[in-house]
Formats: sequence, C-alpha cells, structure tokens
Amino acid sequence: DELLRPHGVLAGKRILVTAGGTREPLDPVRYLGNRSSGKMGYAIAEAAALRGAEVILVSGSTGLNPPRGVLVKMVETAEEMRQAVLAEYAACDVVIKAAAVADYRPKEIAEHKIKKTGETLTLVLEKNPDILRELGALKRHQILVGFAAETQDLLGNAQEKLAKKNLDMIVANDVTLPGAGFNADTNIVKLIYRDGSVEELEQMPKKRVAEIVLDRICDLLTKRG
Ligand code: CTP
Ligand code: CA
Repeated sequence: DELLRPHGVLAGKRILVTAGGTREPLDPVRYLGNRSSGKMGYAIAEAAALRGAEVILVSGSTGLNPPRGVLVKMVETAEEMRQAVLAEYAACDVVIKAAAVADYRPKEIAEHKIKKTGETLTLVLEKNPDILRELGALKRHQILVGFAAETQDLLGNAQEKLAKKNLDMIVANDVTLPGAGFNADTNIVKLIYRDGSVEELEQMPKKRVAEIVLDRICDLLTKRG
C-alpha cells in the first residue's frame, strides 16, 4: 500500500477543498439545493491526503463517506461555507473550490412550514456571496483553483471566471456531455491557466482527474518556489 502511493509530494502543505452542494433553507422543512454529488471534491481531498498534505474538506451535504486522513467540516448554506473557508484561508497553501455553491438563497426563511394556499407560489431570492471571488481578492501566497460547470461557451465562460476570481487554474467541464459533471463517476474537463493555456483531458474517472489536478498544483507550487 505504502509503495503504491504517489510520493509525499504535498507533505507540509495545507490544502482546503470544498465539495458538494449547498442547501438554502426556505422554511423549517425545505431547502433549495442542487445536483452536486461531491464526488470530484472528495476524490481530490482523499488524493491530496495520500500525497501527504494536511487536508481540510469543507463539505455540503453529500451521501459520501468522509475520506480517510482528512479533516471534514460539514456545512449547509453558502454563508456557512464562506465562514468555514475564510477561517482557514490564511493558513492554507492551496484552495480547491469544487463545491456547487447556490448563487441565490430565499430572501426570507419562513418561520413555519409554508402552507399550500395559492395556485402558484412566488419565491424571492437574493444573491449569495461569491466565496471564490472573495478569496481571489484576498489572495496572498495561496494557489487558488476553481471549477466551472457550463452548458455553453465552456472556454469563454471559464476564462472569464478565472480572470474575475483571480484564480491560478480553473477546471472547466461541459455538464451537457454524457460522462461528465454531476453524479457521474467520470468527468471530461479542460484545465485552463492564467497564461491562457488550455489542457484538454479525455473522459476519465474522477479519481484520475483528481490526480492530474494535484499534479498540476504541485507544478504551480514548485514554480512559485
Ligand atoms: N463559487 C463560489 N461562491 C459562489 C458561487 C460559486 O465560491 N457563490 C465558486 C464555485 O465553487 C466554483 C466557481 O466559483 O469553483 C465557479 O462556479 P460557477 O457556478 O461555475 O460560476 P459562477 O461564478 O457562480 O457563475 P454562474 O453560475 O453565473 O455561471
Ligand atoms: Ca454559480
């Protein structure tokens, strides 16, 4: 087992990973959620721990078992994820934001279960904070890696997010492709860097995508010195 592990190339590094989807409460029994399975982020957290990193996984609810050797902090809402991430940020060398964060939340959380009175129901939503953008603005020594799930203009949209959020790398996936995105065990991604270079990966298991993402992060850490 020991011999099969990639060498402890991340020993001494603190890596924060976010995974899963957030849930935004609507009333005491309901929430707005999304289809994120958490598989990609959990695979990255587990692989980073096997490479010797100290890994903190801030996770929305998933049906997954906590990866071995990883400190897991479960959160529910985007705001809770934000608080957990900001508390760890300064001490981290790398942040990988694989979580699917709700862009909006119900403006008001009903105190009691909403009753089915009218024929239609209108929800008013307000914007959640963009956690990754905040991290980008506060960035000092950290390597920041984002994810982008797109259904159109994958490269254009992902490149825009890379720039706007001050990232070092973005992992872009077209969620309309079979074998990619939510709930699948495989993914088809493109890795995009600040210099504009793009690395297209073939369809592969999420666990292998995780290893390649970590290989590239190791390169970025080495370059940074
Ligand atoms: N993200 C975040 N906080 C948010 C929304 C997104 O930290 N409130 C992070 C995600 O974890 C991901 C990256 O930003 O790493 C891109 O998320 P994505 O949903 O693709 O982009 P958005 O900026 O939310 O833009 P849009 O959904 O409009 O495409
Ligand atoms: Ca979004």
